[in-house]
Amino acid sequence: SAELWQSAARVLDLNWSGDHTVPSRRLYPHQWSWDAAFIAVGLAYVNPTRAWRDLRSLFEAQWPDGRVPHIVFDPDTAEDDYFPGPGVWNVPAYGRRRARSSTGLVQPPLHALAAWEVYRHASAHGAACVAEARTELAWLYPRLVAQQEYLAERRDAGGTGLAAIVHPWESGLDNSPAWDTVLDAVPADMSLLELHRRRDVAVTDAAQRPTDEDYARYIGLVLNYRDGGYSDTELAQRHPFAVECPGFNSILATAELALAQIAGVLGRTTDARRHRDRAREITAVVSRRLWDPDTRTFRARDARTGRLSPARCVSGLLPLMLPDLPAGQADAIMTEIRSERFGLPAPSADRTAPSFDTHRYWRGPIWINVNWLLRRGMQVHGHHGEAEELRRALLRLVHEHGHYEYFHPETGQGLGAPAFSWTAALCLDLLA
Ligand code: DGY
Repeated sequence: SAELWQSAARVLDLNWSGDHTVPSRRLYPHQWSWDAAFIAVGLAYVNPTRAWRDLRSLFEAQWPDGRVPHIVFDPDTAEDDYFPGPGVWNVPAYGRRRARSSTGLVQPPLHALAAWEVYRHASAHGAACVAEARTELAWLYPRLVAQQEYLAERRDAGGTGLAAIVHPWESGLDNSPAWDTVLDAVPADMSLLELHRRRDVAVTDAAQRPTDEDYARYIGLVLNYRDGGYSDTELAQRHPFAVECPGFNSILATAELALAQIAGVLGRTTDARRHRDRAREITAVVSRRLWDPDTRTFRARDARTGRLSPARCVSGLLPLMLPDLPAGQADAIMTEIRSERFGLPAPSADRTAPSFDTHRYWRGPIWINVNWLLRRGMQVHGHHGEAEELRRALLRLVHEHGHYEYFHPETGQGLGAPAFSWTAALCLDLLA
């Protein structure tokens, strides 16, 4: 409806900070990596110049090794506006960037897909917009390639051809039950929380956020990675958390497919072919290595021990985005979605599991962004009826409850931050 469109556009306006969009003024006052991608998808409809500026701001903070930081800190905010702030990360100066300007972690590489989406919609805004889009694509392309190479080469901790994440924050699904068994072996040093005070629970209901014990582990992992100079060599030996996430790796392969399209527009046919081959390779490894034949579901794998996570989570549904996924596995994902464990819109974790928590962040609530990705997967595999059902259900949720960060999986109540950017941005795409 027109009303929902206008409220979504207003949220994006309110969260525009001059050269990037913040996810939420209250809870996340800097720029976040995968948020920027979802936000660009929405800005493509209302302000493509801002969409490009957002992506540029993020990639201007790319490290020389190709990693794109999960947070780019706004220099005009104070250290304690967000925890852990720039001083905790203590990233050295690099390239043209001053010290402490970002974190050293990454997030799912959705930016090639976002750039492709913004480009695709440029013609609706006229010739000047198309020219702008081509210029921006040409600027972004080598940077997007460097991002992929960093993940494929330096992050292949298990030596299997998949990218490992070194922190739950890198998955974007912070406290997902998918990491529980790995985190059990990571010490939770509660004294770290006396040294480092959380800020999220000062501005949001603590029952809707990760626990203190989670945070003690999160900080411990940050300090270990930081003290190793954010180096990725011998990760599996030096770092207690190295996990192959099916969601992250499905996005990695999807990025190669988007890069193939972008390379095509830029007239780089050989590169386009190489990207399509890479997508097929990653898909084949996801299909082989993250598939649990006993339960016919996709799971996260601990790259250090080789063990699959016992938890069924929304990340295990995301391989549906891959066009070359074997049909039997795509069908199994649809069966899992239709089961009592998930349903549409899909909650972040198995409704029937003892760990299911209707309020706590990625342990139960419904998130718009992963459902948006699932909907793309349904379209890829020809489930157009369910894709449309999901689209309507997501719009109904936001229309009735507001542009919240996440939603109660039974009542639909809005949870976390209000006026949340990616919810608003994806609403625009779902309405268009
Ligand atoms: C947070 O602060 O909760 C973020 O998800 C970390 O990236």
